[in-house]
Amino acid sequence: MTTLDLDIVRQPAEPLPRYDLVQRGFHWSMAVIIIAAMLIGLYCAYQPPGQATRRFLLEWHKSLGMTALVLIVLRIAYRLAKAAPPYLDRLGRLNHAAASAAHLGLYALMLFMPLTGYWNSAAGGYSLPFFWLFQWPRIVPVDKAASHVAEELHLWGAWAIYGVVGLHIAAALWHHFIKRDHVLDRMLPRSR
Ligand code: HEM
Ligand code: HEM
Repeated sequence: MTTLDLDIVRQPAEPLPRYDLVQRGFHWSMAVIIIAAMLIGLYCAYQPPGQATRRFLLEWHKSLGMTALVLIVLRIAYRLAKAAPPYLDRLGRLNHAAASAAHLGLYALMLFMPLTGYWNSAAGGYSLPFFWLFQWPRIVPVDKAASHVAEELHLWGAWAIYGVVGLHIAAALWHHFIKRDHVLDRMLPRSR
């Protein structure tokens, strides 16, 4: 065994900087909630208004969306207090800028979507349920024109979130399976 080999054996591998438990908890719980809300929203978009299944699924959609609204406020507060971990493998300037822009876009959409959804339902005089447990307070006056504007914004935001989330997931899979770096591992618990 050469001195170099000994060095390799003795040196513990540099630990990978990861998102902490709270950051990972916010990320994965919100990923599940938001993807579920998106799929339900997409399904409902193809059902005629007033149809029973659509009404039932929209109650789920609104409940999930309002849960996302509460979580994103807490998540942003935590993120402002605690930064993302540094990258172990240098990403390159362009890649780094693209990741930061996508993350900022995701945070913006995670606020924009539930806020426009709330505004659409609140101003339209529609239900604002939380899983058949209670109704959220209606803090805007009933105003059909305003509700219509909010609905349009929500539908445009839906296109944006389909696109940005799609790119975000594709990028995570590309890093993991093609580039084979540690970007996805940063968002996973330590495996050993
Ligand atoms: C993270 C939160 C949310 C996301 C990602 C989201 C996403 C979506 C998507 C993808 C659609 C389907 C749009 C389409 O393709 O036509 C939709 C529709 C809808 N969303 Fe949301 N939404 C969220 C929160 C909310 C909230 C909080 C409410 C109400 C309290 C709400 C109410 C609605 C309604 C009523 C529709 C049907 C609109 C229509 O067909 O005219 N959403 N949403
Ligand atoms: C299967 C689905 C998903 C996978 C595999 C995934 C994977 C990842 C990974 C690996 C990171 C760390 C990236 C880095 O360090 O550069 C990350 C960060 C992030 N993800 Fe996802 N993600 C998924 C779904 C989502 C969804 C649905 C959203 C929100 C709509 C989201 C929002 C974010 C945000 C905002 C960050 C940045 C966190 C920060 O630095 O504060 N992710 N995701």
